[in-house]
Amino acid sequence: MSERLRTRRGRLQTRGPGGWRDWNPWRSKLAAWLRASRREWPLEPDARVLYLGAAEGTTVSHVCDLCPQGMVAAVEVSPTAMAELLVVAERYQNLLPVLTDAHFPARYAPQAEGCGFLYQDVAQRDQLAIFRRNWEFYRPRQGLLMLKAPGIRAGVPKAVLDEAEAELRETFATVERSDIAKWAKGHAAFWVED
Ligand SMILES: C[S@@+](CC[C@H](N)C(=O)[O-])C[C@H]1O[C@@H](n2cnc3c(N)ncnc32)[C@H](O)[C@@H]1O
Repeated sequence: MSERLRTRRGRLQTRGPGGWRDWNPWRSKLAAWLRASRREWPLEPDARVLYLGAAEGTTVSHVCDLCPQGMVAAVEVSPTAMAELLVVAERYQNLLPVLTDAHFPARYAPQAEGCGFLYQDVAQRDQLAIFRRNWEFYRPRQGLLMLKAPGIRAGVPKAVLDEAEAELRETFATVERSDIAKWAKGHAAFWVED
């Protein structure tokens, strides 16, 4: 584990400006993915991350803890969520919040240029298309896509996610699926590389 990530009494924690704090997999799909995939934390402390669907910054803040010398460009379309995210940004010099729509990658090029990692959690019908468009624009090395089956269309989540996985396999050389439905109903996480 990194010196900023640990497990204490079964609870995942990250260390940020205020010390160690819990990283709850029921509130953060990224923490759920770490549990489900059993992978090591994948990012270097100086990683540059493009984060789509930042919401109020719950998960973003933990990524900022873990990439203290890097940068997290956090894109969020809701002004209400952005108001909360701006409060989080006061604590993190490596957090660059952007109020805009993730359908338009060029709009946040000044903040996201050079990112090596793409993280997306937007729960929209066209979430696969949004991910591909950003991937093609920024060409990161790795990505993690949190897919919500009911966000794509109605139906049995497993069948919808199987279909999405098949689509991802047409584009990416590496696709690793993790089942995070225990923590986030109807969701799966997809780790991808070119
Ligand atoms: C499930 S929440 C994200 C939770 C957050 N990733 C976390 O773990 O703390 C999804 C967020 O995506 C945002 N969103 C939806 N469509 C978007 C878009 N096209 N561009 C940017 N953000 C979007 C929503 O406003 C919402 O805040």
